[in-house]
Amino acid sequence: MKHQFVLILDFGGQYNQLIARRVRECGVYCEVHPYSKALYIIKSKNPIGIIFTGGPSSVYSDCAPKIDPSIFSMNIPILGICYGAQIMAQTLGGEVKSAKVSEYGKTKTKLFKDSILFKNLPEEIITWMSHTDYIATPPKSFKVTSSGPSSPIAGMEDSDKKLYAVQFHPEVNHTEYGKEIIKNFLYDVCGCNGDWSMSKYAQSTIESIKKQVGDGKVLLALSGGVDSSVLAALLSKAIGSQLTAVFVDHGFMRKNEGNEIEDSFKNWNMKFIRVDASERFLNRLAFVTEPEKKRKIIGEEFIRVFEEEARKVGAVDYFAQGTIYPDVIESGNGDASLIKSHHNVGGLPDYIDFKEIIEPLRMLFKDEVRQLGFELGLSDVLVKRQPFPGPGLAIRIIGEITKEKLDMLRDADFIFREEIAKAGLDRNINQYFAVLTSMKSVGVMGDFRTYDYTLALRGVTTSDFMTADFAKIPYDVLEKISVRIVNEVKNINRIVYDITTKPPSTIEWE
Ligand code: XMP
Repeated sequence: MKHQFVLILDFGGQYNQLIARRVRECGVYCEVHPYSKALYIIKSKNPIGIIFTGGPSSVYSDCAPKIDPSIFSMNIPILGICYGAQIMAQTLGGEVKSAKVSEYGKTKTKLFKDSILFKNLPEEIITWMSHTDYIATPPKSFKVTSSGPSSPIAGMEDSDKKLYAVQFHPEVNHTEYGKEIIKNFLYDVCGCNGDWSMSKYAQSTIESIKKQVGDGKVLLALSGGVDSSVLAALLSKAIGSQLTAVFVDHGFMRKNEGNEIEDSFKNWNMKFIRVDASERFLNRLAFVTEPEKKRKIIGEEFIRVFEEEARKVGAVDYFAQGTIYPDVIESGNGDASLIKSHHNVGGLPDYIDFKEIIEPLRMLFKDEVRQLGFELGLSDVLVKRQPFPGPGLAIRIIGEITKEKLDMLRDADFIFREEIAKAGLDRNINQYFAVLTSMKSVGVMGDFRTYDYTLALRGVTTSDFMTADFAKIPYDVLEKISVRIVNEVKNINRIVYDITTKPPSTIEWE
């Protein structure tokens, strides 16, 4: 696919992926690469703009990342952010100093009107700061374009050389107009034309898969999750029946989910195999209560079932993986070819007879994978699916798993999700599900004493699933859910709502 390219040079900052996502959201293709590879990437990929990310170092520390000064005279526009701004200042002869106290959080920042970076922006905005060092004197040819109470030089530029820098983080949502600042840099400084779109990506990737695969055979482990579903759709469009997608149904999917996955794919042009292995998994898990043991058994059994099916398919040329860009960046900045250590694909290639791995989603962020899914015509059910752990409901039943408990949990979880959707809360809560505890307590129903299970409801809001807050579901919605579950699902007589954040809790209970 021919498109413009912007290079994000990674100095180790925690927001490096966020910068790349913002650039892509602006319709511009970018990649994240380590600062140490700058000159090589510039030579081989010809970027029309470069963004330096922030980073945890002080420019004065011994192991501080340095940049080859020649990068500043290549006539490629550069935007330095936080550490990226400081290293630009220091390398070009300005002065960076260490403050006694770090500046962290939201701060009011003045923007000077004549900078193209701040085109059409107010004179003062809230920005997000996170730094100890600050630029005390800009390099000679630079003018100051922005300032804040603790950062006299919150922005600087040499517009003739197309070099721009900001101390604050335009990529985080806390910075007002942050996306506009990035957009101004891309469109008004670098001359981007917004030629990155998922429809073009779909077309060109389909073409390149066709070319690469020829008349070869491709095998895919389909979990029904967003990534593997979009991958299946993409491969189906490219190579049709040369693709065999194996969906191992371990029996721990949510209510109707196995059928939904099958219904979604059975009319696509591919060989679709659904293996009902639910009994086999249940037998392996009989009397197992320890969470890590459950996960391990499920992972191993999954590989075994998949391996048996793959043997029936016979030798294939390619094994397709749904690796996505965050995995690639985290595994070492886009260089290592990563085998996702997810339980249901980790290790698989060792067991299966194939020549090569293909990873057509490896340059896409999750939201782009979803857009691609829509482009390819996948249903909302698959594309908007909330995250679901590989071991499924098996880790949402505390203690021993039985068929009865699974059915109970499935019904209760379905009611919870149905009522959340009815209340229109499904867009605001990032993940929500029910957990069947192993605790029983006394209740009363009609004239009878009951001694039944306690069900826990969990709903979280989060942007990265690394930290999460519990969702503030209105009491009347919780009440409706509670009444329905207790009335409609046998053997549950108590409902509790999980009000812990992550950390200290995790999102899942096991
Ligand atoms: P925790 O419980 O660690 O979950 O706070 C964070 C996110 O990861 C999901 N999760 C998994 N996803 N395989 C997966 O693909 C797993 O084994 C697994 N365990 C947890 C969890 O649902 C949440 O979104």
